Amino acid sequence: MILVTGGAGFIGANFVLDWLKGSDEPVLNVDKLTYAGNLGTLKSLKDDTRHVFARADICDREAIDALLEQHKPRAILHFAAESHVDRSIHGPAEFVQTNVVGTFILLEAARMYWSKLPEDEKQAFRFLHVSTDEVYGSLSSTDPQFSETTPYAPNSPYSATKAGSDHLVRAYHHTYGLPVLTTNCSNNYGPYQFPEKLIPLMIANALNGKPLPVYGDGQNVRDWLYVGDHCSAIREVLARGALGETYNVGGWNEKKNLEVVHTLCDLLDKAKPKSSGSYRDQITYVKDRPGHDRRYAIDARKLERELGWKPAETFDTGLAKTVQWYLDNQAWADEVASGDYRRWVETNYAQRA
Ligand code: NAD
Ligand code: DAU
Repeated sequence: MILVTGGAGFIGANFVLDWLKGSDEPVLNVDKLTYAGNLGTLKSLKDDTRHVFARADICDREAIDALLEQHKPRAILHFAAESHVDRSIHGPAEFVQTNVVGTFILLEAARMYWSKLPEDEKQAFRFLHVSTDEVYGSLSSTDPQFSETTPYAPNSPYSATKAGSDHLVRAYHHTYGLPVLTTNCSNNYGPYQFPEKLIPLMIANALNGKPLPVYGDGQNVRDWLYVGDHCSAIREVLARGALGETYNVGGWNEKKNLEVVHTLCDLLDKAKPKSSGSYRDQITYVKDRPGHDRRYAIDARKLERELGWKPAETFDTGLAKTVQWYLDNQAWADEVASGDYRRWVETNYAQRA
């Protein structure tokens, strides 16, 4: 069996669903169920004995030790994190706790567990750490894309804590020989993404007749990857990645935020036209994110060269699928946009007016 942390969140849940579509190897899904975790995403697995869910905090060493002892996974895939940059600006403490302390505790538990495995299982064991391109900082419009050797320069509390976790993972390989792998991925989008992030937020606000809040001048660039492609990259790295190595994962899809919002509006204008005008009319410019990174871009050639991975979706195909998914699953989006989410919207957007 494999152990996945954060498997009730956006990417973790997509990974679990994809994994069990292609394999009968069971998944132990360890998630604290913060505001970002949602078991509704996994309801198709309700009666599936291949999916074992355990509500636990990765900072709880006893709980993690007990789960490892009981289920004896052959690999840990570590997705759990506080993941939203704006929230890290409002409340960094949770980010230090989960992303740094939590990763440390998980590494310690993994090291103890791994060190006692029989030699063949020890050889086969893997700890795969899911990280982000934000650890590399911000690019100008003419800088080359981030490669695996770009120096770390995190700018937000979120990216600083992810960078800290990456360093710990690296050190556990270098010092203790723990068989680790790290992936640093660009911006994901797709089904089941919490509507605090750009793409699902814009879709939800558009459909609810609310303003589409573009930060600053809307010219910041992100490199977008369909979540299913991120999942396939992680499967490849788990299966064939070289121990101790990091792999950058990206979609070769650099887009300015405003371009993304325009494309979303155009897709919605076709799929669900308004009685008059375009969804573009709802676009508003709001106060910028403090320390807003200007551009992210990933050079994913190492992953292609060494493991033969390439994204299957283009931005056009992935975004069209995503818009259709949100149109077909408005109940899911309404459910996650609960009281707590409304309080967050107040906190983040009231001050941007
Ligand atoms: P998410 O916020 O949607 O989900 C995070 C999940 O982790 C939730 O289910 C939450 O309940 C769980 N969690 C949080 N704290 C926990 C704790 N202390 N113990 C156990 N579970 C806990 O995040 P996501 O967008 O799915 O991101 C998953 C991972 O991928 C993160 O590590 C993130 O840094 C990384 N990543 C995300 C993106 C992106 O665009 N979303 C891109 C690159 C890398
Ligand atoms: O690059 C990978 C990272 O991508 C991940 O590590 C993070 O977990 C993930 O949240 C994402 O970070 P970003 O900050 O890039 O994503 P977000 O969706 O929050 O914002 C994308 C861009 O859109 C960013 O330039 C800010 C802008 N934005 C965002 C929101 C929520 C807006 O203009 N308006 C908004 O309301």
